[in-house]
Amino acid sequence: MDAAVWVIELVLLILPAYFANSIPVLLGGGSAIDGGRKMADGNRVFGDGKTVRGFFAGVLAGAAVGALEGALLTGTSWDIYAGGGSAFLAQGAAGTAHALAGGSGALQAWGAAIPGALQALGAGGAAYVLAGLLLGCGAMAGDLLGSFIKRRQGLARGKPSLVMDQLLFLALALLFVYPLAQQLLTVEAVLFLAVLTYFVHVGANVVANRLGLKKVPW
Ligand code: CTP
Ligand code: MG
Repeated sequence: MDAAVWVIELVLLILPAYFANSIPVLLGGGSAIDGGRKMADGNRVFGDGKTVRGFFAGVLAGAAVGALEGALLTGTSWDIYAGGGSAFLAQGAAGTAHALAGGSGALQAWGAAIPGALQALGAGGAAYVLAGLLLGCGAMAGDLLGSFIKRRQGLARGKPSLVMDQLLFLALALLFVYPLAQQLLTVEAVLFLAVLTYFVHVGANVVANRLGLKKVPW
């Protein structure tokens, strides 16, 4: 595969996770996920930087970017889920339908309805929305896990940590989306995305700091 095509496909793949990870800075706030609770070490579970609103805004942002990509890319030569993702979904639906069809009359009807519903959604578009949702959930879970570890290390909210701030959200996002994106996610691809994410994260935080959205440039 052409190197430029490979890079563009990987950027398209990871974009929902990037949006998921940055939207909370704009839309977050309100009550903290940990409700102010502390652990035995005297530090907060996650801290005030992890809010319920920020978490859900991030997950929804991932799904929304996925849906937008689905609308723009399905059926084009940039359709990253055309092969693996959609095939995986169709197979899963067919398998579920098959399993359900073995049951009673009502279950049989339900089982038969699933592939039709998937078709109506457009298997391609559905794969993108699901991928966006998985990337959003993964990114937000990784972000939370990062803060959890930072608090256990005694790092105050907002203190920088290369691995926790920049790479953990990526790792969990990729883990979550892996079933849909196996074909693209080779070892080289994951390494490339780690390096890309490092630079994007550093750049984005400098911009957010200049715009006054974040107090510190990291
Ligand atoms: N944010 C949020 N809810 C989340 C994640 C982030 O509201 N689940 C918002 C918070 O306002 C947070 C900002 O986005 O301060 C930046 O996020 P991040 O850098 O992840 O948090 P930090 O404040 O740096 O805290 P931590 O040290 O725990 O990473
Ligand atoms: Mg931070």
